[in-house]
Amino acid sequence: MEEFESVAYARMTKMASDYFRSGAWDERTLRWNVEAWQAIRVFHRVMVDVSTRTTATTLMGSKCAFPFVVAPTALHKLACAEGELATARAASRRGVPLILSSLSSTGVEEVCRAAKHVDVWMQLYIGKERAHVLDLAARAQAAGCTALVLTVDTPVWGVRERDIQNGFCLPAGIEVVNLMRSDRQRDGQNAHERGIGHTGGGIAEALGWTIDASLSWKDLDWLVSKQTLPIMVKGICREDDALRAVDAGAKGVLVSNHGGRQLDGAPATAESLEAVANAVRDRACVIVDGGIRRGTDVLRALALGAHGASAGRPILWGLGVGGEEGVHRVLELLQNEFDLAMALAGCATLEEITADLLVG
Ligand SMILES: Cc1cc2nc3c(=O)[nH]c(=O)nc-3n(C[C@H](O)[C@H](O)[C@H](O)COP(=O)(O)O)c2cc1C
Repeated sequence: MEEFESVAYARMTKMASDYFRSGAWDERTLRWNVEAWQAIRVFHRVMVDVSTRTTATTLMGSKCAFPFVVAPTALHKLACAEGELATARAASRRGVPLILSSLSSTGVEEVCRAAKHVDVWMQLYIGKERAHVLDLAARAQAAGCTALVLTVDTPVWGVRERDIQNGFCLPAGIEVVNLMRSDRQRDGQNAHERGIGHTGGGIAEALGWTIDASLSWKDLDWLVSKQTLPIMVKGICREDDALRAVDAGAKGVLVSNHGGRQLDGAPATAESLEAVANAVRDRACVIVDGGIRRGTDVLRALALGAHGASAGRPILWGLGVGGEEGVHRVLELLQNEFDLAMALAGCATLEEITADLLVG
């Protein structure tokens, strides 16, 4: 995976690679995310018959070849020309569900058509124009998405200093297409015409209207009341917030700090997962992302109580290195490593990946 990272970034423009790699401010949480998984020791069981292993599972009602979903990341066309279509085709071939970012550079309808054999979940932000959220949710449902993922760690955008230094803007031909319809209604221009980042504030400034600092629990109640699709709440790091989300009707919780791109200083997700999982795993689907780089990290996540894991940047690295084939290889690596890690830890089934593996 490290090779994918270095080759991918070397092939991209500085503006694109900085946009993908950045965390907020001093990037401490970004680093902690990776380090915290690495620090977790696994006390493997021996003399277990692991000749037949099963990695397949179901998350939020969606079939997964192994306990993994592709995290929502914006603007895949910055990594390769085919963008999200390449990601969707690779995920489909690997049997891994895809969470599509609302800031994707390909429309949800096209992505759902490309993801033939797997489910697509639609990620949403609640912006200042509440009607737009319902618009996009309805589009996603009509396109065939099977779940909604509401990101709640973004009342304001985290400060990614490299994007500001680079004056991050979208190259010609790349647009945040899912938002354009409402954007046009708003002021007669699409996001690209208004020039994302041309004022020097990066994506934070140009897309400020897509999020809302007044976001609160009543917005989740509102969204739940308006939707028939199951809703997962993304960006939780605390037990009390997880309980609140599930009490409000969320069917899933995604333990995440946005890949270190929001509050710098937030704990690594490997540190916040266990408390959240213990609180809600019997009532809701618990997934974790942030720093997952190996199949062994997926094993650790399950031992800490998650039902599944997810990753953002590794998918972007696969895209940058080889488009659809690159993402396919990244997903294959993660699945193969996870399968071997199960065998080496003495687990033939996912149910055998339990907390005692971490205490010896
Ligand atoms: C370039 C980039 C763009 C992202 N865009 C979104 C987004 O549009 N919506 C969202 O909920 N999360 C977004 N995220 C956060 C990811 O969904 C995920 O939480 C994070 O990437 C996990 O950390 P990892 O990259 O270490 O795997 C983005 C992350 C990156 C790196």
